[in-house]
Amino acid sequence: MKTIIEPFRIKSVEPIKMTTREERERYLKEAHHNLFGLHSENVLIDLLTDSGTSSMSAAQWAGMMIGDESYAGSPSYMRFEKAVKNLMPYKYVMPTHQGRAAERILFSVATKPGDIIPNNTHFDTTRANIEAGKAVAIDLVIEEGKDPANEHPFKGNMDIAKLEALIAEKGTENIPLCMITITNNSGGGQPVSLANIKAVSNICKQHKIPFFIDACRFAENAWFIKQREEGYQNTSIPDIVREIFSLADGCTMSAKKDALVNMGGWLALNDDKWEEQCRNVLILTEGFPTYGGLSGRDLEAIAIGLDEVVDEDYLKYRMASTAYVGDRLTAAGVPIVKPVGGHAIYIDARAFLPHISPLEYPGQTLACELYLRGGIRGCEIGTVMFGQQPDGSEHPAAMELVRLAIPRRVYTESHMLYVLEVILETWENRDSLRGMKIDQQPSALRHFTARFSYKETNAKKEAA
Ligand SMILES: Cc1ncc(COP(=O)(O)O)c(C=O)c1O
Repeated sequence: MKTIIEPFRIKSVEPIKMTTREERERYLKEAHHNLFGLHSENVLIDLLTDSGTSSMSAAQWAGMMIGDESYAGSPSYMRFEKAVKNLMPYKYVMPTHQGRAAERILFSVATKPGDIIPNNTHFDTTRANIEAGKAVAIDLVIEEGKDPANEHPFKGNMDIAKLEALIAEKGTENIPLCMITITNNSGGGQPVSLANIKAVSNICKQHKIPFFIDACRFAENAWFIKQREEGYQNTSIPDIVREIFSLADGCTMSAKKDALVNMGGWLALNDDKWEEQCRNVLILTEGFPTYGGLSGRDLEAIAIGLDEVVDEDYLKYRMASTAYVGDRLTAAGVPIVKPVGGHAIYIDARAFLPHISPLEYPGQTLACELYLRGGIRGCEIGTVMFGQQPDGSEHPAAMELVRLAIPRRVYTESHMLYVLEVILETWENRDSLRGMKIDQQPSALRHFTARFSYKETNAKKEAA
């Protein structure tokens, strides 16, 4: 059959509160036109993030009932460890309360001030944890990965020539580890090919640089490898995953993504010396090594989630629903980042609203309009998020995007049809939209709390 269905039945439902445009105008005004300020019950379809927003399966909920909450040596930890090692064959696995805790532990042990950490694109918590230790985070994604319209199948790949040049310039003694993020969240959720992971692994081996994977969306990345990379069409997803991780020396993981749970993470590695040091930090800041920052029941849910996330029917449905929205938008002429990544659709707000200049925040205008028109909450990833400079000045970001992240197993095809209708209606009415200004902002990370209002007229129109 051609129709790809959700490979699950729904046993437990969560009502969505319906709202009118008038109500949404009031809610948005009360939130100072910042979507982070909304009460989530006033959002119809919440596409703010795919992190920690998955629906758990009946098996996961059942597993939670047998969670063993012993302080030390819990059988739930043993099941968690076995499930992780089944896919990521590392010697040591340390649970943490979420991904950034694993990053903090790893970087606090591995880096010293002035060290360089290359990645395809560092996620913001990864970068922040590196910079907190006064080390330097360098992004080396291929050039194609920076062009929203480029259809390269693995836009998350690392630029191998740039990695080699960086090592030659800085010296191996200043690069304590190299990372690669699968899929590349900050670069549009784009996948990395196995050939590229192998090439990075070989270079790291040659220079004796430990190689780590930021593993958050490993199953989605494996699915893209199976679909797009020559030679993997007949390999199972678990085998592709094992091949990926066998090429590295360890990984950090946020279980809030591809472990299908609402909270959790881990750090896994092989090195005995780093393990001992990381374990000491873990005990100090997260908890005893057989629970990290988690309850026994959380460990059970992760163990079961890891089994479910590599199921091909699940991945087929997940990727089809993202691609479906992307393809329909493309067919209607709506500018989006292509090809569609794993966990989100990224609308190119600069091309959507060319009459609004970057310093009038077209991404914020578009994100607010999707909420006003249909109660959809997305996230601006543009000048609001990246434009504020440490010296107080402001520059346009490289791209003005609105990310619509799709939570796992939460919304059905008709929810996606509704999302499409709202975006297409907004597209038809795009000329009437006005840019925004910031009325109040903090000195850093302004996108979370800044207050916005609409401009009377757009600067470009005034100039015209
Ligand atoms: C690629 C990537 N790395 C790390 C993290 C951090 O994980 P957490 O939110 O669990 O701390 C995220 C979260 O979105 C991510 O997308």
